[in-house]
Amino acid sequence: MAMDVLRDAKALERAGRSIIHLELGEPGVAAPRRVREAAAESLRDGSIGYGEALGDAPLRARIARHYGERYGVDVTPDRVIVTTGSSGGFLLAFLAAFDPGARIAVTAPGYPAYANILSALGLEPVLLDVGEETRFAPTAAMLEAAHRARKLHGALFMSPANPTGAMIARDELARICAFCDEAEIILVSDEIYHGLEYEMRAETALRFSQRALVINSFSKYYAMTGWRLGWLVAPAELMRPLERLQQSLAICAPTLSQRAALAAFDAGDELEANRAAYARNRALLLDRLPKLGLDNFAPPDGAFYIYADISRFTDDSIGFCRRMLHEAGVATTPGLDFDPRRGAKTLRLSYAGPEADVREGVARLEAWLRR
Ligand SMILES: Cc1ncc(COP(=O)(O)O)c(C=O)c1O
Repeated sequence: MAMDVLRDAKALERAGRSIIHLELGEPGVAAPRRVREAAAESLRDGSIGYGEALGDAPLRARIARHYGERYGVDVTPDRVIVTTGSSGGFLLAFLAAFDPGARIAVTAPGYPAYANILSALGLEPVLLDVGEETRFAPTAAMLEAAHRARKLHGALFMSPANPTGAMIARDELARICAFCDEAEIILVSDEIYHGLEYEMRAETALRFSQRALVINSFSKYYAMTGWRLGWLVAPAELMRPLERLQQSLAICAPTLSQRAALAAFDAGDELEANRAAYARNRALLLDRLPKLGLDNFAPPDGAFYIYADISRFTDDSIGFCRRMLHEAGVATTPGLDFDPRRGAKTLRLSYAGPEADVREGVARLEAWLRR
């Protein structure tokens, strides 16, 4: 649905309308300068050929080092596989870790591609409803109850989360990891929004479990969506199956992107400036949205989203978002994309874009809701 909104918004723009994009889950800025320079240099130097299926050795080593530097957790390069975005990482992880028919817990609201990819692979997404009671985060108790009701084989969680921004607190993540290890549930931890935290520091599942699969990406914090590059840290016994799957499914992650991404780890100044801009957008929305009657939203701990309750305006989020797009010129994503059961009364705003756009978007919303 987010992509459908984008398509409609683009059509309106082609017809000459000005549209503010609060629907996009991607940074409004370019990749860091160092990354673009490294890519340019690599192109000048010559051939961009196939690489090793597990990824280029220098990048795998750099990613492993990142775990020591950022989390104080030891990861050896031989447990890292470089993937075609985290999306490519999901395919590899699910195929390597689960047998057909396996039941995998995911949250609702949640990232819609999870259930889509799982279903496409013949796996069964099991929706766990999260809400205000747990600050929109899954808990070990919730997982345990679902597992008791009917055996789970996996759990796929993210923190910070899309669409809510909610994070799993450190102690709860420890409990989730412990329960998964004890119950032999394979935990896949999507850590794609790490680095984009505003209230508490995100913790990696690798601190608490050696059996968890951790997915990450250069798309969000590193602002490299179109470079299609991510990574996966997996238990040693899964590395050979992952390598063989990658050999057949993608051959390797994009070579040019891998060479450039090495420089992303040295672009802290630029990346932190991006984060500071998101933080300013977030502060603006937290101040202004309640004044518009959008005062009930999930805790926006991280990422760049606000997931707001719109039940005082509508019980048809798709129609509401469509009207907002056509009448106010503001594109947002209807909640039904993220939560098939309760999303008719919610919408997601993304504040990953330029500050001027977020400001203008709020002004337009204000005029539209007050009309
Ligand atoms: C939670 C989550 N995981 C994964 C992805 C996919 O990212 P990519 O394939 O660009 O790494 C997204 C994209 O929005 C996301 O929100």
